[in-house]
Amino acid sequence: MNKTGKLVILPGDGIGPEVMTEVRKLIGWLEDNGDIAFDVQEDCIGGAAIDKYGVPLGDETLEKCRKADAVLLGAVGGPQWDKVDYDIRPEAGLLKLRKELDLFANLRPAIVFDALVDASTLKPEIVKGLDILIVRELTGGVYFGEPRGIEDLPNGERRGFNTQTYTTSEIHRIGRVAFELARKRGGKVCSCEKANVMESGKLWREEMTTLHKDYADIELSHMYADNCAMQLLRDPKQFDVIVTDNLFGDILSDEASMLTGSLGMLPSASLGAPGAPGLYEPVHGSAPDIAGQGKANPLATILSFAMALRYSFDRSDIATHIEKSAQSLLTKGLRTADVMADGCREIPTTAMGDALINELQITMKEAA
Ligand code: IPM
Ligand code: MG
Repeated sequence: MNKTGKLVILPGDGIGPEVMTEVRKLIGWLEDNGDIAFDVQEDCIGGAAIDKYGVPLGDETLEKCRKADAVLLGAVGGPQWDKVDYDIRPEAGLLKLRKELDLFANLRPAIVFDALVDASTLKPEIVKGLDILIVRELTGGVYFGEPRGIEDLPNGERRGFNTQTYTTSEIHRIGRVAFELARKRGGKVCSCEKANVMESGKLWREEMTTLHKDYADIELSHMYADNCAMQLLRDPKQFDVIVTDNLFGDILSDEASMLTGSLGMLPSASLGAPGAPGLYEPVHGSAPDIAGQGKANPLATILSFAMALRYSFDRSDIATHIEKSAQSLLTKGLRTADVMADGCREIPTTAMGDALINELQITMKEAA
């Protein structure tokens, strides 16, 4: 069989390896039972890479990723690497990977599955049926802006500083992604910044308005990021696509995840120029507090793999089957601890991976 494509797996730290084991199981099953075959390579990132290579992202690892069609990543970080030099902390590996592959568009969907309506801390009527997409700019802004640093002042104080910067082209390319995606969804884009306080935000708003002329069929609104944080809790269904910068996107996507009940459910895709490899990772972190206990929810990573099938391997058909299967096993009451509810059965990470494959078998048979 022709290979479907090249996939690099970077399990990372904390719960990363255990959730990735479930994805590997799923890939194995799909290869045995479907019409796909991957060329899979595996490597370290984050703390695991610091331990093995002395840096959080080795040059050879980066080269492997460059040559891949998609990179699937677990999570990075943990208390054992809190004391390493700031430049080689686990997170720096992830940031370098995003930057080097120029993955400027981070798609973070927040979808409330009917079965999980009660898992959210918000009232069911507020979140039922929610389907929003946060488009986060991922390679610019204060995460990468220069100058940055910590300096000693003559008066004996220390001063820490970072720079928020965006150029016209950076704003336009992320804006285009948001408008194009809105066209395939609800036709609305809400652009978030702090134009009332920051010049970079003022430019962001002006450039989004200019760009909108190419997308007259899409409804564009602007919102200050603090108001957006509030509106996400007050009435999240007013949104379709939210487009925002790197830092606000980081914060708003964590907030949006809780509308869905758990960070353990949220996948993401980071995309660059057409033809460039995509990076797929769960929105959750490495959760060192529960690592190795079989409590982690593998669905965010499994759903990230589904996004890889859709965006990097042109297999939306299988992606949709996986998404449906996740939904139906939740409906049947199978839950990991993070989304556990009355009347449901709590199962460990590996059992969740098995349950997904079980459901997938049913879903694919029904579709055939
Ligand atoms: C995320 C994470 C990362 C970020 C960290 C781990 C560097 O919080 O992907 O949302 O801040 O981008
Ligand atoms: Mg984050």
